[in-house]
Amino acid sequence: MQGRDKLCAKLTSAFLRKWWFVLASAVVLLLLGITCAIFVSSWIRMFIDHELVLRPGSMTFEWWARPPVRPFVHVYVYNVTNADEFLNNGSKPVLDELGPYVYSEEWEKVNITDNENGTLSFHYKRTYTFVPELSAGPDDDSVVVPNIPMLSATSQSKHAARFLRLAMASIMDILKIKPFVEVSVGQLLWGYEDPLLKLAKDVVSKEQKLPYEEFGLFYGKNGTSPDVVTMFSGASDITKYGIFQRYNHRERLPHWSTDECNSIAGSDGSIFPPHITRNDTIAVYDKDLCRLLPLRYLKDVESKAGVQGYRFTPPEDVFANDEHNKCFCPSGPPCAPNGLFNVSLCQYDSPIMLSFPHFYLADEKLREAVEGVSPPVPDKHRLYIDIQPEMGTAMQARARIQINLAVSQVVDIKQVANFPDIVFPILWFEEGIDELPESVSSMLRLATKVPPIARAILGWGLCALGVLLILLAVTCLIRSSHRQSTLRLEGHAVAKPPPPKVPGKENGYELNNRR
Ligand SMILES: *[C@@H]1O[C@H](CO)[C@@H](O)[C@H](O)[C@H]1NC(C)=O
Ligand SMILES: *[C@@H]1O[C@H](CO)[C@@H](O)[C@H](O)[C@H]1NC(C)=O
Ligand SMILES: *[C@@H]1O[C@H](CO)[C@@H](O)[C@H](O)[C@H]1NC(C)=O
Ligand SMILES: *[C@@H]1O[C@H](CO)[C@@H](O)[C@H](O)[C@H]1NC(C)=O
Ligand SMILES: *[C@@H]1O[C@H](CO)[C@@H](O)[C@H](O)[C@H]1NC(C)=O
Ligand SMILES: *[C@@H]1O[C@H](CO)[C@@H](O)[C@H](O)[C@H]1NC(C)=O
Ligand SMILES: *[C@@H]1O[C@H](CO)[C@@H](O)[C@H](O)[C@H]1NC(C)=O
Repeated sequence: MQGRDKLCAKLTSAFLRKWWFVLASAVVLLLLGITCAIFVSSWIRMFIDHELVLRPGSMTFEWWARPPVRPFVHVYVYNVTNADEFLNNGSKPVLDELGPYVYSEEWEKVNITDNENGTLSFHYKRTYTFVPELSAGPDDDSVVVPNIPMLSATSQSKHAARFLRLAMASIMDILKIKPFVEVSVGQLLWGYEDPLLKLAKDVVSKEQKLPYEEFGLFYGKNGTSPDVVTMFSGASDITKYGIFQRYNHRERLPHWSTDECNSIAGSDGSIFPPHITRNDTIAVYDKDLCRLLPLRYLKDVESKAGVQGYRFTPPEDVFANDEHNKCFCPSGPPCAPNGLFNVSLCQYDSPIMLSFPHFYLADEKLREAVEGVSPPVPDKHRLYIDIQPEMGTAMQARARIQINLAVSQVVDIKQVANFPDIVFPILWFEEGIDELPESVSSMLRLATKVPPIARAILGWGLCALGVLLILLAVTCLIRSSHRQSTLRLEGHAVAKPPPPKVPGKENGYELNNRR
């Protein structure tokens, strides 16, 4: 009691001179606390948005231009072990999945130009290095795979005049071209000289489509890409942060039948517009995929470095043969079966079909048409990206795609007369990042943990302090007014000596009396 009296005395008098000053500061604190509680999140949001913008010279810009990550590609090749029986005796192809063959990657963006309108233009530069330690074998392992240039040519000739097909057959006879080739894994990926492509290049005029005489599934990907890419930097509109504006001077793809399907307004998978919620659908664009790939929330995850994030994955009907995907089938119906995506128009008309590895999310009969492809396991074969939602940074990613060749039977060409209509899996790969460097992880951790803590401390802390002060001031007020009235009463009744003089108290009385 005595202690509180003293405190009251101090507050109402000597310490702050005027009791209402306490009350006023309390109210100010309370208001400040409430304001903080309400606005801290948006202030932090604004701060993050400001820091993320890709301004030449900033830290995020450096990280973006030369990502401090070690991406990798794991390649699994389907080796055909019964090529002769398949062609001669009509047996199912028996495939042997070999791999992984692992390449480490170095990502870089070169020739970056700031367009001063909220976009940056640049070229991707990717350097691949084979990593024998992580691989199942050397990349000169020899494998037997379908002869993609040849089977593309024969499949395309299906609707051509018959004499053309016969001519093609005799050219292939002379060049000794067979429906299966034996090449090394490295050649299959990075290119080998193909007699048919060489011929085409020599014979056909320059405007013709095929630009190469080598064939490889990743041909031309090692090194600086010739494509000019324009991307939003976030400077003008943070909701478009990291989204492609143009790819090779084009704002849309030319291949599909609607603007929506021709859109390239997606991210490259490394950075996304910040403040992602579980309800958002985000989009990734890849040139070889030839479309936007939508991604939806799957589950909450925590990276090895302890950063919380969301896992995003394509919806199950992404490659479904339905109304939705009709625009991707301009010459159909019939359209590609469930689970396959026809990229023929993007791949110089070769009948390439993409799917998820092991035909995940595709018709079961595609997998049953061959032997040696085990049933898909979502965790091993699903494509996903783990994103730190506040910053929109990819923390871990697995871009998993299988490349298939949709062969059509062409009876006039004797080399392939026995090659039935089939979707032939060639290989699948997994491109991704495993873990961000600690410097980035710790920043992401900060971005997840600081906002709620700051909000709690600033908001609730200030509020609590305000409430405490108000309570204190009010208690003191009541006490002092109570004391005053007793004093007056006492004055009327008995002449009692005043309480022992405490300098502070006297001032307090004076103050109250004055009012
Ligand atoms: C791939 O299959 C062929 C037989 O078709 C075999 O000769 C070759 O050794 C196999 N490659 C590997 C790396 O196992
Ligand atoms: C194809 O089948 C026939 C009879 O069924 C058999 O004699 C022949 O060896 C088989 N050919 C191959 C390449 O297995
Ligand atoms: C990048 O810029 C340099 C000079 O600034 C130029 O020589 C080079 O051709 C450019 N590269 C590409 C791929 O445009
Ligand atoms: C920004 O400028 C570049 C180069 O001038 C141009 O290609 C691009 O379309 C512009 N972007 C916007 C959004 O205006
Ligand atoms: C990619 O190019 C670099 C240098 O340009 C070279 O050292 C490397 O071996 C190439 N990688 C592959 C897989 O060809
Ligand atoms: C997310 O979607 C669910 C169901 O559609 C809805 O109830 C919820 O309010 C949405 N949340 C946000 C943040 O939009
Ligand atoms: C793939 O697309 C091309 C071009 O639109 C078309 O000619 C071809 O028939 C399609 N293939 C399948 C199997 O639908």
